[in-house]
Amino acid sequence: MKTTQNKKETKSKNTTTKETVKKGVTKPKSNAAAGLSELFEDGLKDIYWAEKALTKALPAMAKNATSPELIDAINNHLTETEEQITRLEKVFDLIGKKATAKKCDAMEGLIEEGKGILEETEIGVVRDAGIIAASQKIEHYEIATYGTLRQFAETLGYTEAVTLLEQTLDEEKGADKLLTEVAVNAVNLEAAEVEMEE
Ligand SMILES: [Fe+2]
Ligand SMILES: [Fe+2]
Repeated sequence: MKTTQNKKETKSKNTTTKETVKKGVTKPKSNAAAGLSELFEDGLKDIYWAEKALTKALPAMAKNATSPELIDAINNHLTETEEQITRLEKVFDLIGKKATAKKCDAMEGLIEEGKGILEETEIGVVRDAGIIAASQKIEHYEIATYGTLRQFAETLGYTEAVTLLEQTLDEEKGADKLLTEVAVNAVNLEAAEVEMEE
C-alpha cells in the first residue's frame, strides 16, 4: 500500500515539473508583476504613456483632416484626452503611486499606422476616411484598456478609481461613436463618390 502511495506522489511531482518547463510557456522577467495590484499599476503606466503620445498625435490628424465634423471631433477629443491624463494622475495618487509613463508598444504601433495612412493618401475625403479608420482602432484599444483597468480597480477595491476610469471609458466610447457618425454621414459617402467619378 505504502509503495503505491509513494509511486503516486512521484508521478504527480513529475507532472508538475513537466508543466513548469512546458514548451512555449514564457519565462517571466525577474521584475514581473506578482499580483493584480502590480498588473493594475503596469496598465496605468502604459495608458498614461499612450494618452500623452495621443496629445501629440491628434493635432497632426486634425491638421490633415478636411471634413469640419471630423476636425471638430478630433479637437474635442484632444481636450478630453488632456483631462484623461489628469484623471490618470488622480488614480495614481489614489493608489499611492507616483504617476509614471511606460512606453506602450501597442499605441506606438497604432499611431505609426495612422501616420502611414497620411502618407498613403491624398488630402481630402479619402484621407479623412483613413484618419477615421486609424482613430477608431485607437479608440477601441483605449476602450479595451479602460474596461480592464476599471474592472481591476473594482476587484482591488479602489472605488474612487473605478469612477474616474469609468468616466474616461465613457468618453472613449463616445469618441468612437462620434467617429462612426462622421464616417457614415459626411465622409465615407463622399469618398465613395470620388472613386466613382474616377
Ligand atoms: Fe484617451
Ligand atoms: Fe481616445
